Amino acid sequence: MEVEPHVIDRLVAAALEVRAHAYAPYSRYAVGAALLTRDGELFTGVNVENASSGLSVCAERHAVGAAIAAGRRQLIAMAVVTASSPPATPCGACRQVLAEFGDFAIILANPSGERRLTTVSLLLPDAFGPAALGAATP
Ligand code: THU
Repeated sequence: MEVEPHVIDRLVAAALEVRAHAYAPYSRYAVGAALLTRDGELFTGVNVENASSGLSVCAERHAVGAAIAAGRRQLIAMAVVTASSPPATPCGACRQVLAEFGDFAIILANPSGERRLTTVSLLLPDAFGPAALGAATP
């Protein structure tokens, strides 16, 4: 699960860049996510809020959806950029969605340059997953 420093830099830069496109008129809390797949492709996502507030969707889940829609299921690392200090962790719903696709590196960052490296299994230990249903890992 070691992620090379230049890969971390690339992911954080992509998450920071896409964060500018977050649609967060209600919370004003923009989130950008960038996801690296095994074949070196990068997929991004931002939070998209809604006037019907329960319908807001997080950046992490949009990035996962973009990778899956492109036929890429092997996830290597994700960077999440928020304005928080220390950098914010993914919400519980996102942790569950990330865990569906295995245990991989998560880089939490903010525009001031703070970074924290963690993993899906550290963020969501003992997760419910495909194995509980007798399903193969995606
Ligand atoms: N948000 C994310 O995009 N990812 C998270 O993991 C936590 C929260 C978004 C949802 C909402 O648009 C805003 O941040 C404030 O909760």
